Amino acid sequence: MDAEPSPDGRSAPLEVATAPIPTPYGEFRARAFESPSGHVHLALVFGEIGDGESLLTRVHSECLTGDALGSLRCDCGVQLRSALRIVAAEGRGVVLYVNGHEGRGIGLVNKLRAYVEQDAGADTVDANLRLGLHADPRDYVDPAAILRSLGARSVRLLSNNPAKAAGLREHGVAVESLQPLGTVANRHNRAYLDTKQARFRHLPSTGPRPDELPPAPVDVGSLLGSLHSHADRPHVVLKYAQTLDGRIATRTGDAKWISGEPERQLSHAIRAGCDAVLVGARTLLQDDPQLTVRMVPGSSPLRVVLDSRLRTPRTAKVLSDDAATVILCRPDADPARRRALESSGATVRDVAPGPDGLRVDEALRLLRSIGIASLLVEGGGRVITSMLRAAAVDRVVVSLSPTIIGSGVEAVGPLGVDRVADGIRLVHRSVFLAGDDVVMGFDVADGAAGER
Ligand SMILES: NC(=O)c1ccc[n+]([C@@H]2O[C@H](COP(=O)([O-])OP(=O)(O)OC[C@H]3O[C@@H](n4cnc5c(N)ncnc54)[C@H](OP(=O)(O)O)[C@@H]3O)[C@@H](O)[C@H]2O)c1
Repeated sequence: MDAEPSPDGRSAPLEVATAPIPTPYGEFRARAFESPSGHVHLALVFGEIGDGESLLTRVHSECLTGDALGSLRCDCGVQLRSALRIVAAEGRGVVLYVNGHEGRGIGLVNKLRAYVEQDAGADTVDANLRLGLHADPRDYVDPAAILRSLGARSVRLLSNNPAKAAGLREHGVAVESLQPLGTVANRHNRAYLDTKQARFRHLPSTGPRPDELPPAPVDVGSLLGSLHSHADRPHVVLKYAQTLDGRIATRTGDAKWISGEPERQLSHAIRAGCDAVLVGARTLLQDDPQLTVRMVPGSSPLRVVLDSRLRTPRTAKVLSDDAATVILCRPDADPARRRALESSGATVRDVAPGPDGLRVDEALRLLRSIGIASLLVEGGGRVITSMLRAAAVDRVVVSLSPTIIGSGVEAVGPLGVDRVADGIRLVHRSVFLAGDDVVMGFDVADGAAGER
């Protein structure tokens, strides 16, 4: 289908190809539009655009170094992946990948030259000016024409940049709201993010800014092990921190903090390595966790809560804008609570009830169907136990802290194992020291499958 001509008379990009693109976040339809300038823009469409109203939309400026190489000089790659994840979690929306916007429109070579200026002391604006270039020469004629062609009537723009909203409005796009995309500064991009706030009046990244970051990114690859792909569920990693006597909280439920800061940094890096992070309702009520990635550079996973009766309060930190949240509940959960949580930004999905709350197999199937390939289960004990009982675990990562607290919350409850030989066998061990804690990762041995 051809894009309609833009109101300012410039020839509009033409749709030239379309294909499904499976991503870790779900399957998008990629629709390529070629502009008369030669640029090819990619609209990644998730779900049905329908009446085109209030379409969750990211207009993403291409950034080879950030998007493809994971450069820490900017936050582009993190924003791109967050946008794909948030749109997929909503079930409907567009991520428009705009070609020709590299380096805020100055191109790849000039961007690298500007990096040299920045290393010599200029900020991201002055670096462009020193090179005789405009600070931000991007225009939004093509993106606006493509959004019209896709049938978008009004958009909720995933961006921290008010100028992007203004640029789209100038070319006829009804931007309903600007929805910030939270990223966390790292020591390489902090000055760049500060400059964007100060000089381009960007909205602040919603995540807090850690003062001290680890000197080098933590390599969690061997702790996480290799990803196993399953058709009906994500690759599941169980992760918890326990005392030397095997407790994940005291008898009052207090778990702050069993592990030390280096271990918690490692936990954030593990989160950043997974598509989604899941906790049970009691952990949410007891700890009010944010479940975002804050202590290391990286993108926050989709947050998932198993909450049969929708007890999640509207003030829960898990509902913050930093990342998308899916709450799973019983189909007969209170409709008023459902509406309240949806209006707080969460997606609420039904799962049939099971013996421990919600059916684990159905919850995992649903997560797989929305594109979650890897799921980090962060507890608490009941959820850990039902995941193990359902034989739905690929990897176990346990931190052991040098503390003894006596009776408290056990990491793993009854599994119906009477003989040691019938226990769940763990293989492929990796062991790390993180501060005073010992962190161990294991694969669940083949043969542990089968409902216990
Ligand atoms: N040290 C650590 O690493 C760590 C990590 C996490 C938590 N914790 C601690 O663990 C404690 C909470 O653990 P917990 O065992 O009491 O609760 P939990 O596992 O966090 O949550 C259990 C609740 O989740 C809901 N749920 C829904 N479907 C479920 C299913 N299939 N299986 C299990 N639960 C399901 C149920 O509530 P509904 O019936 O309302 O749905 C259930 O009562 C807290 O004290 C927390 O601080 C420690």
